[in-house]
Amino acid sequence: MINLVNLVKTFGTQKVLNGLNLEVPVGKITAIIGPSGEGKSVLLKHMIGLMRPDSGQVFVEDDDITTLGRTDLNRVREKFGMLFQNAALFDSMSVYENVAFPLQEKTKLSREEIHVKVLEALENVGLRGTGSKFPDELSGGMKKRVGLARALLLNPRIILFDEPTTGLDPIICRAIHQLIKDTHTKYGFTAVIVSHEIPEIFDIADQVAMLYRGEILEMGSAVDIQHSTHPVVSQFISGSLDGPIQFVK
Ligand SMILES: Nc1ncnc2c1ncn2[C@@H]1O[C@H](COP(=O)(O)OP(=O)(O)OP(=O)(O)O)[C@@H](O)[C@H]1O
Ligand SMILES: [Mg+2]
Repeated sequence: MINLVNLVKTFGTQKVLNGLNLEVPVGKITAIIGPSGEGKSVLLKHMIGLMRPDSGQVFVEDDDITTLGRTDLNRVREKFGMLFQNAALFDSMSVYENVAFPLQEKTKLSREEIHVKVLEALENVGLRGTGSKFPDELSGGMKKRVGLARALLLNPRIILFDEPTTGLDPIICRAIHQLIKDTHTKYGFTAVIVSHEIPEIFDIADQVAMLYRGEILEMGSAVDIQHSTHPVVSQFISGSLDGPIQFVK
């Protein structure tokens, strides 16, 4: 569905993506793991064309989106839903308006139909009754769940989730994973989930890719990755302070 080929991205002198290759299979859940600051969010932004690489290609189905102009890029973007790491809500809109916005913009649904969908979406993420609140009246976890409701609502073919559960309590975390899994089973979208929830993410991912030093260091099934003998991968998964990944103050 998405194929990244030899992606290079540099900010100033910092090379974040260093010839990265990754194939995201259609209809599957791909998890991206890796240390903080390694470029996971940058990677997702390349998939949806919010960032352009210095070199390399980003195929979304048959389109290399790095070559597209604005109109064509917007056409490709309609295939996507995205949950940003910071939820990216509109601060001046209520929760209800935030979730309803894409339906109003992108569909011809009536006001009543939108109303039913928005209430159902909020209910699904455990936010019944919060429609009239504004983003700055919500906790971080609540904002994230509003973003999730919005990302799922248009029933897109590809959904990118940037840390959908970071900062949420363990029960909500499990409920959100279950919601993603159930929605995925129902609609069969292609999902890419950046996550630090280890080991929980392994229960819902069909494949797991570890990003390290600008490349995909290892990719495989959740079971393969959990049993990896690669010193970087196994250190990361165990959370050990001893190993090749050094935490520099
Ligand atoms: N727009 C930008 N301009 C300059 N540098 C950037 C920009 N976006 C990201 N970076 C840098 O690229 C690196 C990777 O950032 P990114 O946000 O992708 O990390 P991450 O893997 O998502 O980390 P985390 O797990 O903490 O979210 C960081 O060093 C960051 O400072
Ligand atoms: Mg990030």
